[in-house]
Amino acid sequence: ISNPSAGRMPAQQWSTRLAFVLVAAGAAVGLGNIWKFPYIAGENGGGAFVLVYLACIAVLGLPLLMAEVLIGRRGQQNPVNSMAALAQEAGASPLWKNVGRLGVLTGFLLLSFYVVVAGWALAYIPLTASGVFAQLQPAEIGQQFDAHLHNPWVLIGWGTLVLVLTLGIVGRGVRSGLEKAANLLMPLLFLFLVILVGFAASSGHFAQAAAFMFSPDFSKLSASGILLALGHAFFTLSIGGGAMMVYGSYLPKSVSIVRTSILIAILDTAAALLAGMAIFPIVFAHGLEPAGGPGLIFVTLPIAFGQMPFGTLFGTLFFVMLSVAALTSAFSLIEPAIAWLTEKRGMSRLKACLLGGGGIWLLSLGTVFSFNIGADWTLAGKTFFEALDYLTSGWMLPLGALCMALFTAWVMKPEHTAEELGARKGVLRIWLRLMRYLVPVIILVIFLQAVGVIAL
Ligand code: PHE
Ligand code: NA
Repeated sequence: ISNPSAGRMPAQQWSTRLAFVLVAAGAAVGLGNIWKFPYIAGENGGGAFVLVYLACIAVLGLPLLMAEVLIGRRGQQNPVNSMAALAQEAGASPLWKNVGRLGVLTGFLLLSFYVVVAGWALAYIPLTASGVFAQLQPAEIGQQFDAHLHNPWVLIGWGTLVLVLTLGIVGRGVRSGLEKAANLLMPLLFLFLVILVGFAASSGHFAQAAAFMFSPDFSKLSASGILLALGHAFFTLSIGGGAMMVYGSYLPKSVSIVRTSILIAILDTAAALLAGMAIFPIVFAHGLEPAGGPGLIFVTLPIAFGQMPFGTLFGTLFFVMLSVAALTSAFSLIEPAIAWLTEKRGMSRLKACLLGGGGIWLLSLGTVFSFNIGADWTLAGKTFFEALDYLTSGWMLPLGALCMALFTAWVMKPEHTAEELGARKGVLRIWLRLMRYLVPVIILVIFLQAVGVIAL
């Protein structure tokens, strides 16, 4: 383990503060914002869910994001070595490096199904562009999606393409791969999102969508909806999986973690809200169901696109945007493993990509088959895909987040966390209180509820 204060070479650092904000926003803004957020908000009654989600981001997600970036930046290495180095600095048990291992593993498992869903998005670009949705009946559009899921070869093909694109960028390294891609893709992503909101505003039921998303009716929100909002706050900010830790390790010491984290959280939240305002006006204008579930954007939306003027054009743009969002998050899911394989195992970046990518590809077959030939290979009623999603988002990310909160607040010296965060005393005090008490207690409550010890 090298000295944490030694730091990385400049070529292994983001070149500017903005570059970090874009790369980290790229990690954060993903399928979570555009695919998952609208449908879970739709299923949980809209406004009240959105309000709880916003509160969870501000009170829990944001300070946790700061904690994770802080560990990476102080450790200056991959998540495993960073945790080991900081534990040593604090005179704590070397076992803390398992938190880094957990992060690497979580990213790896998440990516194995993320590439499959991202593959749906990619596949829907040419499909939408072909104009086929204008010719199909709503029921046939649903069948189209089912047929897509039922063919393992098709899913393998598109998932492999996503993985190859991901490795092609990540393999080029921190500056010429990750940073360059984010500089190009993130402005485009937000531009497309704004264009799509404009399209929805001009051709959909915008006021009804705004009322659905922003006027809270708490009678529609259940306890499980609250927990879902909480878990999603972690998932959407990419907290607990080592992604923000490894990106933080490439962050120059001169950049403020507090300020950049706030920006990243704002961008991620804006992306989710914009996605909702691009999707729901169209859903309402066509009398479709906002609680459309995971198929909301692959079935409900194409039905609407098929019926509207310029629907083919804007529908295609929508799936391009979704693919871009998914890709920049995929980079961040594999980077912890790549950094670990190169720094700890001494592999070249190319070799690490081939090995890591190969493993993810194999594991992704499990998700692929869970939609077709393996649809009835279930564990506790969950398919392989559902089990993996539940394990990673429901357990591994919150567990990683819990460990990071405990580590930064109780193990690291307050002088050291203050030095990294570089914020005003009042801000530091609030952050430390949240990390010490509120965040761990709330995560523990989620766990106890999940195992049925307490019922909310
Ligand atoms: N934040 C990403 C999304 O919203 C998912 C993600 C989770 C990415 C954890 C990296 C780490 O889609
Ligand atoms: Na997100």
